[in-house]
Order: sequence, then structure tokens, then C-alpha cells
Amino acid sequence: MQPIATSWEKIEKFQARPDDLLIATYPKAGTTWMQEIIDSIMNDGEVEQTRRAPTHVRSPFLEICSPPPVPSGIDMLEKTPSPRLVKTHLPYDLVPQSFWQQKCKVIYVARNAKDNAVSYYFFDKMNKTQPDPGTWDEYVLRFLKGDVAWGSWFDHVLGWWNARDKHDVLYVFYEDMKEDPKREIRKVMRFLGKNLPEDAVEKIYQHTSFSAMKENPMANYSSFPSNLLDQTLSPFMRKGAHLVQSGAIRQKALQFT
Ligand code: A3P
Repeated sequence: MQPIATSWEKIEKFQARPDDLLIATYPKAGTTWMQEIIDSIMNDGEVEQTRRAPTHVRSPFLEICSPPPVPSGIDMLEKTPSPRLVKTHLPYDLVPQSFWQQKCKVIYVARNAKDNAVSYYFFDKMNKTQPDPGTWDEYVLRFLKGDVAWGSWFDHVLGWWNARDKHDVLYVFYEDMKEDPKREIRKVMRFLGKNLPEDAVEKIYQHTSFSAMKENPMANYSSFPSNLLDQTLSPFMRKGAHLVQSGAIRQKALQFT
């Protein structure tokens, strides 16, 4: 991966469209899961439609500049017809201003720091575009300092939490998605103004389960070359578990507001 800073001017000037939907997350918070849910909803529960292409093509990654054969996120987005589902890991303050000028909707997914850090550690082991994470003890200290790609988890979740006051942001918790996936699918549907029947919710629920996504080549990043993501070291769809209850995190978040 080329440093994001080398393309910053292009990213900063990115032109959002009013019907763009931004999915924003700290890395490893459940982005891919939410992308699959949203794409399924946008296809009215016709989940077979989501098999048309891998996740990173259906929902391009705004700020990513990978070496070939993976095209840059912006190049892909410019060729993507509306309505676009745009993925970003940028902290709130760095999101291109055009998203706010165009009054775009945003779905943010937050995951508790501990599980997020563990997931990020294993991802950095298999992600050959990042330096080796070293030992867990070393890594966790860097994570706590925000000395990892996309910076501090704390600043990220808090910055986006506060953004809810200014913009059309649906703030979702990974742990809530685990606790009651259908409830969260319906929440996203309402936010997108979609009123799908219960059988569509059921189909989306089945299609976006951990076990289904793990086996789905269009959702499990198996199409990525192994010199970028080496899934023999750790699978992209690793455990999909949560150890901390969402109520505890929400409580923590509210202490800051
Ligand atoms: P683990 O490493 O803890 O297993 P992202 O998409 O933001 O990179 O997040 C990846 C994390 O979300 C991984 O966590 C992955 O297993 C988990 N994940 C992906 N799809 C999921 C699903 N359908 N249900 C639960 N967790 C899922």
C-alpha cells in the first residue's frame, strides 16, 4: 500500500454525490459485514445480486492506494454508477468536505477496543502491505498510543460519535449486530428509507451470517492476491466473536459527551 499522504490532495478533493452512502469504521470494526448488509438492502434482499463482484469492487475504499493489480479507491469510485457505497477508515476530521456539502448519509460501525485490537493484530500479521505487528505485548502498546494505521481508536470512535450532532450519521455497534442481527438490519433499512418484507430480512440475515460470509468468495477477500493478504497466516474472516457487551461501550461513550 502506498502511504495515503502521497495521494492526499486527490482524496481531499474527492467529489461526493448526494446519493453516496459512506460506511465509516476504524479498521477491523466489522466494515465488511456492514458493507454486505448494506449492499443486500440496496438490492432489496435479492442477495444473489451481491455476488456480482467482490466487496472492494462493490464498495470501493476511498483512501486506498494499493500497488497494481488493485486500482486506487478513487479511480474505482469515479467509474462506479450511483448510488455508490463508499468505504472509509478516515477519522471524522479528515473526511473530504464534499460528503458534508452533499449532505450524504453515513453509517459508522464501532467495535470495542479490545476485540478491535485483537482483530487488527491478526490482520496486520496477514496484511503484507503493513509492517509485521511484532509481539502482542508490543502491538497493544502501539495500538493504545494510536501508533497504527488510521491512528487512535479512541479519537476515531469519539470523533464519529460527536459527528452525529452535525450530520446524518447512523452509529452502529458491532456488539449490537452480534446480539441481534435482524434488529440491526432493520435499523439500517429504516435509515436507508427501505421497507423490505420479513422474508427479505431473513434472507439478508442468512446471507450475512459469519459462516455464510466466510464461505462467500465475494465477501471473504479470497480474491485478493496472497502477496497482499496472506490468508494462510490468518483468515480475513477470523472468529467474528465479541467478548464485551455493547451496553458497557455505550456507557463509556456517553461519559465523553
Ligand atoms: P475478527 O478478526 O475478530 O474475526 P473489517 O471488515 O472491518 O476488516 O472487520 C473484520 C472483522 O469483522 C473480523 O473480526 C471478521 O471476522 C469480522 N466479521 C466479518 N464478517 C462478519 C460477520 N458476518 N459476523 C461477525 N463478524 C464478522
